[in-house]
Amino acid sequence: MERFRVTGGARLAGEVRVDGAKNSVLKLMAAALLAEGRTTLTNVPEILDIDFMSALLRRLGCEVEQRPGTVVIDVPAELSHEAPYELVRRLRASICVLGPLVARLGRAKVALPGGDNIGSRALDMHIGGLAKLGATSESEHGYIITEAPKGLTGASVWLDFPSVGATENILMAAVLANGTTVIDNAAREPEIVDLADMLIQMGAKVSGAGTSTIEIEGVPAGSLSPTSHRTVPDRIVAGTWAVAAAMTRGDVTILNANPHHLELPLDKLVTAGADVEWMPDGFRVEMNRRPEAVDIMTLPYPGFPTDLQPAYIALNTVAEGAAMVTENIFEARFMFIDEMVRLGAEIKTDGHHAVIRGRPHLSGAPVRSHDIRAGAGLVLAGLVAEGETIVTDVHHIDRGYADFVAQLNSLGAQVVREPDPDHFHE
Ligand code: UD1
Repeated sequence: MERFRVTGGARLAGEVRVDGAKNSVLKLMAAALLAEGRTTLTNVPEILDIDFMSALLRRLGCEVEQRPGTVVIDVPAELSHEAPYELVRRLRASICVLGPLVARLGRAKVALPGGDNIGSRALDMHIGGLAKLGATSESEHGYIITEAPKGLTGASVWLDFPSVGATENILMAAVLANGTTVIDNAAREPEIVDLADMLIQMGAKVSGAGTSTIEIEGVPAGSLSPTSHRTVPDRIVAGTWAVAAAMTRGDVTILNANPHHLELPLDKLVTAGADVEWMPDGFRVEMNRRPEAVDIMTLPYPGFPTDLQPAYIALNTVAEGAAMVTENIFEARFMFIDEMVRLGAEIKTDGHHAVIRGRPHLSGAPVRSHDIRAGAGLVLAGLVAEGETIVTDVHHIDRGYADFVAQLNSLGAQVVREPDPDHFHE
């Protein structure tokens, strides 16, 4: 186990390059299962989650080659239909193999996932959507067993909520279904568009991705072919750097990023007092004064992303004034606030609302990271805390941020990665 030792006070300045989106590439890897042969994905981040997904695909029978920035997946004619618990528990996103496996094999047995500590994450919409396409599912001994022995049939699917994962699973299943599927109230995240783009390159017939209605005309099994695809940039990592620049009153240019995918978060930074310059391959954030508090309400895309909520709470802890942050997506996503309070932040929560009164400075302390984004938020807070902040359980941060410490230091931060001598298993 390792930890980060963050010495506060540095102003971040310089350039940082963002990789492809974790939340996209994991689904693109699953989509590769739909076609026999070699799929190549580029702009792939070097993070643990990619290793976990590669291990799962290998278990299903694929050969997976991981090179810096690239993953090559060779999908055999015969795939296993079973995703076992010891692999799935490390990565909740493993559930996205369910749709492709059912589509290709007519059956799948996938362990119920674990994943982030950010609240119960039900799968009813995944299962309900696949049921509309004719698949039956039951849960047995910690596994979901989904079967469609006669293949899937296109149908209308109305989601209660625009779930990212359910939209992706149903979309991937529907590309090989017999007939047309319409997903209504679909998620509109850029990662959904990225997945649809790759499916289209493979030969699938998908339209409307990026809107609330996605239409998929099924094609016969075997008519999809493998492809090469460049992963969409990671808007959450890009947004994290944007906040780091603003909080430290810095000047950071974020490259290989798409500001169109961050319109609302960047607009909030402008409200906080930052200058944001859009560029063809990224954007620049410059801040010359103490930020002003900004209210945030998380919502499905194009609303404010829940994955950036912890970073904006960090920003508000040192802002001028008070802010209200409302979390609408994951119920336990305020768990890390107790850690922020350990750093001297003044935050009160009531249900899914948090009120933050900004302080001129935080004060360094040992804190624990609960999940990827909370961990990143705590590191940002450490950058503006007096003295040293020790962030433990950084394996969570490693799941989403490639080479975080080296990138922070290249911008002028003082962060050391070191073994955690106090780590113990609870
Ligand atoms: C994905 C992202 C995650 C991001 C989230 C919302 C990945 C690997 N993760 O997660 O980083 O925070 O989108 O942008 O891409 N729900 C149900 N039933 C279901 C499915 C979801 O009740 O069948 C609920 C969840 O518990 C949650 C909400 O819907 O409260 C949103 O979940 P969803 O959009 O599905 O998020 P994920 O795909 O899990």
